[in-house]
Amino acid sequence: MKLTPINAQMSLKKYKLGVIGLGEGRSIISAALESDRWELVNVCDLNEDLCKERAREFGLTRYTLKYDDLLNDPEIEVISIYTPDQLHGLHIRQALEAGKHVIVTKPLLTSLAEAHDLLDALKQAPGKHIFVGQSSRFFEPMIHQRNDFLSGKHGEVDTVETYYISDSRWFLEKDWSRQKGFSWMYNFMIHAVDLAKWYLPGIEEVFAYGHSSATNKEYGLKVPDTMRCLMKDAEGRIATVAGSYTKPALRQIDPGISCTLRGTLGTTRSVYSHLKYYTKFTGEKMATHSYEEKEPYYFRFEGKSHHAGEYQNYIEYFAKCLDKGETPKPDLHEGLHTIAIMEAIEKSIDSGQPVQVNDILKEHSLNLQRLQ
Ligand SMILES: NC(=O)c1ccc[n+]([C@@H]2O[C@H](COP(=O)([O-])OP(=O)(O)OC[C@H]3O[C@@H](n4cnc5c(N)ncnc54)[C@H](O)[C@@H]3O)[C@@H](O)[C@H]2O)c1
Repeated sequence: MKLTPINAQMSLKKYKLGVIGLGEGRSIISAALESDRWELVNVCDLNEDLCKERAREFGLTRYTLKYDDLLNDPEIEVISIYTPDQLHGLHIRQALEAGKHVIVTKPLLTSLAEAHDLLDALKQAPGKHIFVGQSSRFFEPMIHQRNDFLSGKHGEVDTVETYYISDSRWFLEKDWSRQKGFSWMYNFMIHAVDLAKWYLPGIEEVFAYGHSSATNKEYGLKVPDTMRCLMKDAEGRIATVAGSYTKPALRQIDPGISCTLRGTLGTTRSVYSHLKYYTKFTGEKMATHSYEEKEPYYFRFEGKSHHAGEYQNYIEYFAKCLDKGETPKPDLHEGLHTIAIMEAIEKSIDSGQPVQVNDILKEHSLNLQRLQ
């Protein structure tokens, strides 16, 4: 029997989700509840007050304080991880060992030291996926820019400028931001690094400066809170990446996160804070595309410091990949390559020298070809 579109729609499988970490996990709860491709089975946090708050907010009938309850629940097919950065590696491994697919928020890891453990765990879980939730790829202006890039409208792109600058001093109030393993680079600047790498997947050399401000030091942090990086790929194409996080921001005009592509046929810029996409293609006038009407979809709670719309876009993309038996991207291998670029940035800041990404991979006995 031939399916009509409506029947085809009705026959789509709903995937069953468990969520751990209910701070930013709030956004994936909203995304799953709003999506016709997902069923939220259970949520978990160590903090019972927060569990109760989320249960009240979303009308949930269940929550648990024990991750084991998600891991041991045969109904749950996918676990989505929003715990502190330093715990991602452990929580991913446990989910894979329990036979679940994994969606992990950025950063995948805070060091390549855990890379082999994850590669081994994935090998031991045939058919399972680790998807890295690089949310900026799934934001409205960035989606339009990517579509134009893929359709060749930019011509040959040889310059990428990415940027993530925000006044994120509020983040220093979280305990884990002051614990070993936290870094502004891994938590914040990874958005800008990932966008640069999305367009220049073969970045092979990095040169970076970083500085730790007095504000940073007041909180006992040594890792830089301002970074400026230059990167190049094997063909000499260049990316610049900028990040600063503890200074007052020019809120009305700062883009938050942005990505500029300069190509032989067109230059475009996607801008987070203003939901805008600027284009200038050969033969066309410069245009400003505004997606402000989508604000309620992307920003469902107070302020703009959460990502429910992006998460809804990425879980629906994830569901489609599972339907088709495709690997959702960025996957573990791509995610590890991004972490290698991050380690190259750190090493360049420390040494004052350019650093080859391949040397970082070799130090960890990882193979670049396998990771790209
Ligand atoms: N754009 C994005 O994709 C985006 C935005 C914000 C945060 N994040 C990521 O989300 C993660 C969490 O950030 P946040 O701002 O929500 O932090 P948060 O501190 O507000 O929330 C983390 C939660 O994890 C819980 N938790 C810690 N250990 C646990 C354990 N073992 N079992 C169960 N729960 C545990 C804590 O109780 C806390 O409620 C970080 O990795 C961050 O990078 C991503």
